[in-house]
Amino acid sequence: MQVNNSITIEHISKCFRKIPVLSDVSAEFESGKIHGIIGHNGSGKTVLMKIICGLMDADSGEVFINGERQKNGSAYKSNIGAIIETPGFLPTQSGFKNLQYLASIRCKIGDEEIKSAMKKVNLNPDEKKHVGKYSLGMRQRLGLAQAIMENPELLILDEPMNGLDKDGVCDMRKYLLNLKSQGKTILIASHSAEDIDVLCDTVCEMDKGNLKKVR
Ligand SMILES: Nc1ncnc2c1ncn2[C@@H]1O[C@H](COP(=O)(O)OP(=O)(O)OP(=O)(O)O)[C@@H](O)[C@H]1O
Ligand SMILES: [Mg+2]
Repeated sequence: MQVNNSITIEHISKCFRKIPVLSDVSAEFESGKIHGIIGHNGSGKTVLMKIICGLMDADSGEVFINGERQKNGSAYKSNIGAIIETPGFLPTQSGFKNLQYLASIRCKIGDEEIKSAMKKVNLNPDEKKHVGKYSLGMRQRLGLAQAIMENPELLILDEPMNGLDKDGVCDMRKYLLNLKSQGKTILIASHSAEDIDVLCDTVCEMDKGNLKKVR
């Protein structure tokens, strides 16, 4: 079966206290590609990603995933893995326990899949250290493990390389390109021109509430 994991957004607008952040934004992100979103701080990248994931409601406009219109707050039922800003975890539990807890929400995977996701981002599933004692890069890796552990068809990654060291960035690029080769659709916001160049098939820029195609 051919899986089509396109994301289409139509006429999305969002204001905070009457100040527009997104003004009638429409775009189509084709399936099986890596799509980059760039733009200065505060331009609305994270807000757009939250709306696509269903973590925030738009004031108006619609999100379609796989051609299916998403009702407000419902997108997490779809097959989406996401990292939005710095992932929040329970600080007094191990990384593995945190992922176990999160996996129990959807009951799609067991311990083996969790361990495999942690190994893919070079975290040791048997590490007893609590997440509160993790470094920034370790927390980011754990966030990525969470995003990929249920093998979603669609990944929404808001600055996923934040806090990763050189090897971590290199591993992650390889890993994302590998996911793309499996037909996954990836939307990635980044301030790194190099990550965008190396990874993305299309690039859009958020500017003054609009999303403009750069390539
Ligand atoms: N929950 C909220 N309440 C009020 N204003 C918000 C909220 N979330 C975002 N904003 C505002 O919306 C604008 C866009 O924020 P957003 O986080 O999307 O920017 P960004 O492009 O992701 O920036 P960065 O590159 O720094 O991550 C900012 O002015 C921000 O203050
Ligand atoms: Mg942001």
